[in-house]
Amino acid sequence: MYPYNRQRRLRQNNAIRSLVRENNLNPNDFLVPLFVVDGRDVQEAIPSMPNYYRFSLDRLEKEVKILWGLGLKAVLIFAKVSDHLKDNEGREALNPNGLMQKAIQTVKQACPEMLVMTDVALDPYSSYGHDGVVQNGLIVNDATNAILAEMSVSHANAGADFVAPSDMMDGRVLSIRKALENASFFNTGIMSYSAKYASGFYGPFRDALDSAPGFGDKKTYQMDFGNGKEALQEVAADIDEGADIVMVKPGMAYLDVVSQVAQTFSVPVAVYQVSGEYAMIKAAAEKGWLNHDQIVIESLMAFKRAGAQIIATYFAKDVVKILG
Ligand code: PBG
Repeated sequence: MYPYNRQRRLRQNNAIRSLVRENNLNPNDFLVPLFVVDGRDVQEAIPSMPNYYRFSLDRLEKEVKILWGLGLKAVLIFAKVSDHLKDNEGREALNPNGLMQKAIQTVKQACPEMLVMTDVALDPYSSYGHDGVVQNGLIVNDATNAILAEMSVSHANAGADFVAPSDMMDGRVLSIRKALENASFFNTGIMSYSAKYASGFYGPFRDALDSAPGFGDKKTYQMDFGNGKEALQEVAADIDEGADIVMVKPGMAYLDVVSQVAQTFSVPVAVYQVSGEYAMIKAAAEKGWLNHDQIVIESLMAFKRAGAQIIATYFAKDVVKILG
């Protein structure tokens, strides 16, 4: 009871605030998304993602060494595939000498201890820009799962430590897990995008990968953002099917979901601060309307407070520098 309890005693100066702070950020928290393109000596700016780039493999090698030097020990690779290689089944995704496969090898050669996670989904490879095979204007589930499973084995073969299915087909984790077991990849992890919402926040990412859906939207597979409990169902299914880590995506607008998932399940929970969240902060900071560094730290700390153990963020390099 006041005045015996005065909450402000614990806020008097930086030393006491640091001592009682419940959550802290450090480089171990972050997963760095990386965009890879064909070519040599390419570092392409992405207009809707200021200060973020697509790298050719030679530049990727340099970038990964920089990340390692900063204490960042995990990357999540996305490949931007040329239009002429795209088809309905995403066949290029299975090419053992494809861009993704070569990117995995490049990272492992540059930094053998770097944890390599890979995006598993059809959309960057699909002529329709959808995460599944299209038949009669519909995204078909089970035929897609078979391809995702092959794709995962192909990534594991190239050296991926974890595959990260981001497609939201039903049962894909089980298909992938079975295929990995059959191919003796017993130690390959699955970080499943378990609660992935049909979100407007993915816009800049689709610019980065040129992967916007050619028709319709993704609402028949990604979750409806009106729903919270459904996320628990999705997560439970993925854990049951063999996921090692579950993810909620996007981040900032879905902190309630992160919190519920973290409280309900005991597996590690990841959150993805997506491209639109990055773009909003960068744009407001460029205008001088928000303080960049302060908002970056505050937005990332919110994920920790909500219960996330792993944060995929385009700010990973920035934040390590800000934290000093
Ligand atoms: C596609 C995929 C998307 C993202 C990661 N994997 C976009 C989508 O579902 O359309 C979004 C990441 C971001 O916006 O930063 N499988």
